[in-house]
Amino acid sequence: MCGIVGYIGQKDAYPILIKGLQRLEYRGYDSAGIALINGDTRTYKTKGKVSDLENYCEGKNISGSIGMGHTRWATHGEPNDVNAHPHVSMNGHFVVIHNGIIENYGRLKSRLKTRGYNFKSETDTEVLANLIEYIYLKGKVSADVAVRLALTKVVGAFGILVACKSENNKLVAARKGSPLVIGVGRGEYFFASDASPIIEYTDSVIYLNDNDMAVVTKDSLQLMTINNDKLEPKIQKLNLDIGEIEKGGYDHFMLKEIFEQARSINDTFRGRVSFDKQSLHLGGLYNVTDKLVAAKRIIIIGCGTSWHAGLVGEYLFEELARIPVEVEYASEFRYRNPVIYKDDVVIAISQSGETADTLAAIKLAKENGATVLGICNVVGSSIPRETDGGVYTHAGPEIGVASTKAFTAQVTVLTMMAVILGEKRKTISQEKYLKLIEDLTLIPDKIDKILSYNEMFKHISEKHKDSENFLYLGRGFQFPVALEGALKLKEISYIHAEGYPAAEMKHGPIALIDENMPVVVIATHDKSYEKIVSNIQEVKARKGIVIAIVTEGDTVLKDIADYTLEIPEVSEELAPLLTVVPLQMLSYYIAVLRGCNVDQPRNLAKSVTVE
Ligand code: F6R
Repeated sequence: MCGIVGYIGQKDAYPILIKGLQRLEYRGYDSAGIALINGDTRTYKTKGKVSDLENYCEGKNISGSIGMGHTRWATHGEPNDVNAHPHVSMNGHFVVIHNGIIENYGRLKSRLKTRGYNFKSETDTEVLANLIEYIYLKGKVSADVAVRLALTKVVGAFGILVACKSENNKLVAARKGSPLVIGVGRGEYFFASDASPIIEYTDSVIYLNDNDMAVVTKDSLQLMTINNDKLEPKIQKLNLDIGEIEKGGYDHFMLKEIFEQARSINDTFRGRVSFDKQSLHLGGLYNVTDKLVAAKRIIIIGCGTSWHAGLVGEYLFEELARIPVEVEYASEFRYRNPVIYKDDVVIAISQSGETADTLAAIKLAKENGATVLGICNVVGSSIPRETDGGVYTHAGPEIGVASTKAFTAQVTVLTMMAVILGEKRKTISQEKYLKLIEDLTLIPDKIDKILSYNEMFKHISEKHKDSENFLYLGRGFQFPVALEGALKLKEISYIHAEGYPAAEMKHGPIALIDENMPVVVIATHDKSYEKIVSNIQEVKARKGIVIAIVTEGDTVLKDIADYTLEIPEVSEELAPLLTVVPLQMLSYYIAVLRGCNVDQPRNLAKSVTVE
């Protein structure tokens, strides 16, 4: 939800800002803008993408060794030039970029209007810029004090960068609820919503915590809280490789990330599967293992694809560890006054570690005394810092807006957790424990095998790219995969798609089936195989087009389905790690063939830091 980037030092800021915005464009891409400071302050902004901003800046004065840039995902006010950031205060004293939502902006705006302020945009950010200016002029305080005081009046979430016209040798950064990282160079500092724009300049970073504020010149950084308590900056080393955030020869990040899954799952295993494959260890759970083993109930929370991973987790924990599990949308959980017991273990799943609803649900669970664990991908993000323990997925940066390798890494972590718990609770035999570890380590090669059927994915996509609806069916462990397949298709190709438990089809969706309806059915060899074959027959009897995901060597479905896509033999519990892969590929090719922007689908953003 909006990407922010900033620079203060001796270099030209413009190329650093533009490159940074390109890296952050996954966070929002409906408009972009930049402010450059070189004695004077100039702002350039436009509707559209960062490339549109670059075109817009052509021939303009882009000098300046201090600057800030923003790529927007609209919350308040439609995407247009005026609502794009940066926002300049009414009398031109302050320039602000912002990621987040000022919830009390309406009230603040009315008050500022009565004091003579008028507004050009519909945004909450312009209200903040004017509030800072009002305090600055009225209170005759320094720019940083004005920013700090303004932030004490604000309700909501923010990651901001602020520059002041008359104190033009510094930038003020602050965060609450929206991420902000400061890169520390020699005689220069970098600012960004995540570390990807910073990594090529420095590996020393400071992650701002909620309510932190930094006042930065090219040679100094002062850190304090918004309540003015002095803080000692904690510089951390970044462990991120520049190659991980570039496309590496693939047409899209999404395709690269799908193909990376064998590697990313191996990274998830690293240091956790013993060398002799006889045991699993998750270091981030050591201090909560007893609680987990004794848990009467696990509640899994997440949003979107992470919620789907959570549903797979439910099947895993119940099957292998015999612990009852509830899976909740974080957005519902946080507002519905849920019953939470002190001995509940809550597991929050999030790729970004910044999803606003998931963070709020964690807070609620903690307030009620539950033990809260995180499964996150982005190291140093907010969720791992808010939880009592947890596991990083180590899938590497996921840039494509549609989540792919993060999902398989999340499911891998959940599987490892369930296997460990099953062994400790003695709900699986030692033999099964060892077999599951062995089978897990074979997953990466099996994913690569599935990906070698590229031509088949293209062929089916070519045939059905113009369909208006798709149905996805699965049973048991494959039901969440059906949901995930439908989400992948709709979010990047804009085709309406629904995922259902296959047996539920008879209770309504079957009415949709006709000769124009492709039905993707996950029908691998497991205990519901016979039942799902009957469901496929029911679809065929109504002339539906069946695309079946089957186990290698299945001859029955080859005769019944219109298409079969094979996955290697695998135990039922681990099958979601494989069956999701053909669904990712079908979505990818269908979206490409329909001319959609796969990495940046309309209306979406990678990191949803607003509720
Ligand atoms: C779908 C997708 C989203 C995210 C959701 C949660 O492809 O990426 O549905 O899964 O926004 O995001 P995280 O996992 O960052 O909390």
